[in-house]
Amino acid sequence: MEHNPPTTRRAAVLDTPGIETFEFRSAARRFASGVGVVAARWENRTLAKTVSSFTSVSLNPPLISVCIGSASPLVSAIHRSGCFAVSILQANQHHVSAALSAAGSGQAGTESLGIATTPSRTGAAVIDGYLSYFDCSIENSFQGGDHTIVIGRVIGADSTDGQPLLYFDGGYRSLRSLP
Ligand SMILES: Cc1cc2nc3c(=O)[nH]c(=O)nc-3n(C[C@H](O)[C@H](O)[C@H](O)COP(=O)(O)O)c2cc1C
Repeated sequence: MEHNPPTTRRAAVLDTPGIETFEFRSAARRFASGVGVVAARWENRTLAKTVSSFTSVSLNPPLISVCIGSASPLVSAIHRSGCFAVSILQANQHHVSAALSAAGSGQAGTESLGIATTPSRTGAAVIDGYLSYFDCSIENSFQGGDHTIVIGRVIGADSTDGQPLLYFDGGYRSLRSLP
């Protein structure tokens, strides 16, 4: 039994000007997530960006994905170097997230922003004080609209005890247990 809406109806909805972006953003803001930093090294600089699009994709082989705005120089740094790392941030690292999501921060290296990193096995950079990290070589990448979906094969990972930084409805949050 097919449940897909007719193509013409779907096209009409997506073509409605102004509505789609607003509704899309409002709905997406209701998705609570952890906060990660994707980083890659190229030409002696560490380019990094705050992301919430991290997903664990596959266990065997171990794969993860992130979606990065295709115009970002980080995307070409990942493609050229062939590797990248995703650091999952702790609750007390909201300043790192803010610095690496500020407009134009995608052009700057972490060094110039004063953010301490340590080289991972692949040569990508891990944010000091991480909650966990995934060190990856590129498995694949695809265009997804204006973003690039990067699939990474995890060749190194580590985790520590701590509290995650959370992001919901445009603001940072921390975890609270339910009774
Ligand atoms: C919590 C949070 C999550 C974000 N997630 C993503 C993401 O998954 N992919 C992405 O491309 N940008 C994401 N952004 C936006 C980028 O971090 C930000 O636009 C970019 O680093 C700004 O640099 P630029 O102006 O050089 O592009 C996120 C921002 C925040 C605050």
